[in-house]
Amino acid sequence: MKTRVIKFLTIAAFALAAFALMNLPGNTTTRVSAKDDDAATVYKTKCAACHSPKAEKAYDPAKPIEEQVDAILKGKKGEKPPYMPGFEAKGITPEQAKALAEYMKSLRTPAS
Ligand code: HEC
Repeated sequence: MKTRVIKFLTIAAFALAAFALMNLPGNTTTRVSAKDDDAATVYKTKCAACHSPKAEKAYDPAKPIEEQVDAILKGKKGEKPPYMPGFEAKGITPEQAKALAEYMKSLRTPAS
């Protein structure tokens, strides 16, 4: 009888620990992370389809960063579709937009 109680308590303790681990505040896998080094991942999944993996399409790296950030957050209409969608509504923060703009720029200016 006693060993069964101990067994039960051990299992309960493990379950609690596992549950606590799953709910740690640092676990942000379901959100778009605000970390700068995620720009490459975000670019690949959300932007490369239109701008090509090397940011060669519909992108002018000579434009000021602020203008690029604005285009990313608010979108931009060109002469014909597909237009640049606004990504602020999709959860991209101004910090991420800046990181993305800088990442695109770095794609076009390879370190030599
Ligand atoms: C549906 C296609 C599409 C997607 C997806 C898209 N863009 Fe664009 N983007 C465009 C087009 C088209 C333009 C050019 C608009 C114009 O004619 O000036 C543009 C313009 C831009 C500009 C301004 C460049 C310039 O020269 O004015 C930036 C910066 C930019 N996009 C970044 C991004 C980023 C970062 C993402 C992903 C988060 C992204 N875009 C996703 C189509 C897209």
